Parts: sequence; structure tokens; C-alpha cells
Amino acid sequence: MKIVHAASEFFPYLKTGGLADAVSSLAGTLADRGHEVSVFLPGYRTALEHKDAAGAEKRLSLKIEMGDQFLSGDVRVFSPRKNLKIYLICREEFFDRRAPYGNGERDYEDNSDRFLFFCKGVIETLRLADIQADVVHCHDWQAALLPLLLREAERRHGVTLALKTLFTIHNIAYQGLFPRSVFARTNLPEEINNMDGLEYYEQINFLKGGILFADRVTTVSPRYAKEIQTPEFGCGLDGVVLTRADDIVGLLNGVDTAVWSPGIDALLPARYTAKDIAGKKICRAALLKKAGFDEKYTGPVFGMVCRFAEQKGLDLLLANKAFFQTQECRLIILGSGDKRYETAVAAMAAETPKKIYLCAKHDEAMSHLIEAGSDFFVMPSLFEPCGLNQMYSQLYGTVPIVSRVGGLADTVTDADEKPAAGTGLMCEPTDGSLRDALGRALKLFADAPRMSAVQQRGMARDFSWNVAAEGYENLYRDSL
Ligand code: ADP
Ligand code: GLC
Repeated sequence: MKIVHAASEFFPYLKTGGLADAVSSLAGTLADRGHEVSVFLPGYRTALEHKDAAGAEKRLSLKIEMGDQFLSGDVRVFSPRKNLKIYLICREEFFDRRAPYGNGERDYEDNSDRFLFFCKGVIETLRLADIQADVVHCHDWQAALLPLLLREAERRHGVTLALKTLFTIHNIAYQGLFPRSVFARTNLPEEINNMDGLEYYEQINFLKGGILFADRVTTVSPRYAKEIQTPEFGCGLDGVVLTRADDIVGLLNGVDTAVWSPGIDALLPARYTAKDIAGKKICRAALLKKAGFDEKYTGPVFGMVCRFAEQKGLDLLLANKAFFQTQECRLIILGSGDKRYETAVAAMAAETPKKIYLCAKHDEAMSHLIEAGSDFFVMPSLFEPCGLNQMYSQLYGTVPIVSRVGGLADTVTDADEKPAAGTGLMCEPTDGSLRDALGRALKLFADAPRMSAVQQRGMARDFSWNVAAEGYENLYRDSL
């Protein structure tokens, strides 16, 4: 099949979170399975500076209609592996910035224009380069208007650009909500500018467009597919999701084992496998050293890696500060984002620098070292569409402590509830329940044979992308 993906992140060209890993490994797996895959991304600075893009050809010049203006741009193309082509939709004014969505305090004011330009750029490229796609698969709000804009472009030009469209919700909390005036920039017919279209309480909602107008809608775990149909998790769009209830499928993400396998991980000081786990001790010592702790420390090490956003349960972590400060353990956190959390977590670490360490940046190597060197991985998310770190943790022999939501509930089994099958510890997303799980972690750590059994079961799990890729293939075929 000829499959087009459009997304705002793609590892290793631009990554703020799991979207980058998920889109990259799905596209790569589909390419390996023999499909002709084209991935469209905004021409971010980090993508253009990546070595893979060094020989990128400037293929097309674009003139994109935005309201009553035309904005110019161009398209660069390169191929990092067989059957896979990357198309960067470039316009310096929009994408040559230090960060993709905002300056850390606020989102960029022109985000609606930036991602509208991106979507329209994808469509114009499909048209000019005559890429006759079987399926256009769009991800998250940044690409959510594509299905609608695509059908409108086909109508205007009297052509077929793609047979079917598929939209994946990686996170319903990010919707691309903009003032109503943005509608004029879409050049869509006025009949879409209402409650049954893009309007959402006097604003324009990009994500809603994807949910309503794609031929198929998916999300990234079975449990999240159900959750987003309820007010508790739907972030105001549960009613819209319910209108597509018959079409929504939850396909669990996988793990790109070429990047995330302790046996071959080039970012680690030592490699290890379930059979020979000695290298994990070396990683542990290196991690402790990096955090400024005694590398011979023998107590439990808790690790955490995440975007600093409310979603990740940082408030629950902070509410359990006393646990980490008084119990015999170490806590090592990697993360950045919301300044409120950066300040609060930094303050907690500053109070007990001998026990808690914060690395406040995006650091790919450090994220691997934490997965490998910790004994427990803390992930008390308030909601989690899929979550990747809890899967990485299991493969790295690091016991995940997760809340029972979304993809976390679909991928972790509690070791106290199911002693013969457990791979982690689960809690409810509340302070007290997390406190209880942390206490159970100390007990598990003190019981070496049981700890080892839990680790071994986690390392034996198969999270390979082939399962998900097959699920998407079936959906593509089915919709065609
Ligand atoms: P989300 O997509 O909601 O951020 P996931 O668990 O799906 O959550 O994926 C997060 C990904 O981003 C993981 O690969 C994780 O290692 C990575 N990540 C998050 N924060 C950082 C950071 N500060 N440095 C490096 N990698 C990070
Ligand atoms: C989103 C979600 C996360 C998911 C990732 C990849 O960022 O927050 O749970 O794993 O997308 O699908």
C-alpha cells in the first residue's frame, strides 16, 4: 500500500514526547513490511540540521492559500531507509525555532497558522508530486484538519489525492483550540463553521475536525479508547468521540526495539539481557554517579522521565515528597516543560540533595540511563493514552510503578495482586494510593528473589511493533 503519515514529531528529527517514538516506529515498521511510506513533518530546525537531511533535495516550491493571503514555502525530501521517504514542509518564519510549540511559558501565538500551513502544505505536495495515496494517516491536533482540507482540495481541483483518511488521537488533552477568527484562514466552506463542524464553544477546535471527518479514528490503547468516551477523560470532547463510537479502535503502541533494548543500547555504559543482567549494575553505578550520589549505594533507586505536565502526576509525586526524603532510597528525575513543575521539583531536590536529583532538560542519553540504572520507574499519570516508558522499563528490568489508567493499565500487571504474573506495581492516581505503592516497592526490593522474578517477567514481555503495525494494516485494508 501507499501510506502517507502526517505528524508534528518524528524520532530522531524532533521529539518532545512519545508521539515522536510512536510515529517513527510505526512508519519504519510499515516500511520494513514492504509498504511505500511517506512521512510529512514540519521543517523544524532540528530536522533540517539532522545528518539524514544533509542531502535533502529541495523538491517543490509551495504557495499556500491562507485566508486572503498566499504564503510561500518549500518541500525538502530525503530517504533514511528503504521504502521510507521524509517530506519536510518548510517555511523559516514558522518552523526555524528553538522549540516546536512554544517558549516554555506560553504557546506561540501563530500556532494555528503554523499547523494550518503544514496541513495545506502536505495536501499541495500530494497534488503537485502526484503521490496517489491509498491512506493518509494523520496524528494529533497538528495534523487533524488534514482529512477535511484534503476532501475540500479534491473537490476544488477535481482530483483524488487519497482514497481514505485515518486519524489517530495520541492525546485528547491537546486540541488546538483557537479564536473563531482562525476559521477564515482555513478557506473551508462556511457550513463547517458551526457546532456540527469545527466550532467548539465559540472557538475553533482542530482536534474535533480530525475526529469528525477522518474515515477512521484510532487511539493508542484499548482502555483509552473507552475512557475518552466519558466526561472524566474526554476533556470536553467525549460527546464528539461518542458520535464515532462505532469506528474508534484502540491499538496499543509498541516499542522500537532497535532503539530500546538493553542488549544493544549504544547509549548505555554497559549492555545486558535477562540471562546476563550484570550490565544493569554498571548502569546503576553510572546513573548514581551522574546524579552526584555514591555509586556504591545499595538501596532502591527510583527513576522518573517525563514531560513536565499535569498529566504525568507530578502533583502526586510532590505530595509524596516526605517518602523520598525520609525513606532509605534515591530518586532521580529527568524532565522539563511546565515552569511551575520545574520550580517545585527543583525545590524538592534542593531540600535533600543527597537523596533527590533533578536533571531539568531533554536528554536522550540520560533517559536511557535512567531506564537502565533504576530499580523502579515512577509513572503516576492522571491519564495516559498509551505511555511508552512503562514498556521500556519492563524491557530494561526496571519495575514500573504506574497508575491504573489508559495504556498503563493495559500494559502492566500488579505484582501483589497477581504474584505469578506481575511485572509492576499499580496505584490509583491519588496521593495515598501512590504512597502505598511506593511502600510496596520497598518491600519488593527487600525480597530479592521476588524482585528478580518480577524483573524477569517484565524483560520477557513482547512489545514489538509488528502487532500494532498489523492492526493498522488491517484497518487500512478494511477501510479501502
Ligand atoms: P508522552 O508522549 O505523554 O510524553 P510517553 O511515555 O508516551 O509519554 O513517551 C515519552 C517519551 O519521551 C519517552 O521516550 C521518554 O523517554 C521521552 N522523554 C520525556 N521527557 C524526556 C526528557 N526530558 N529527556 C529525554 N527524553 C524524554
Ligand atoms: C501521547 C501520550 C502518550 C502516548 C504517546 C504516543 O503523547 O501522552 O501516552 O504514549 O502519545 O502515542
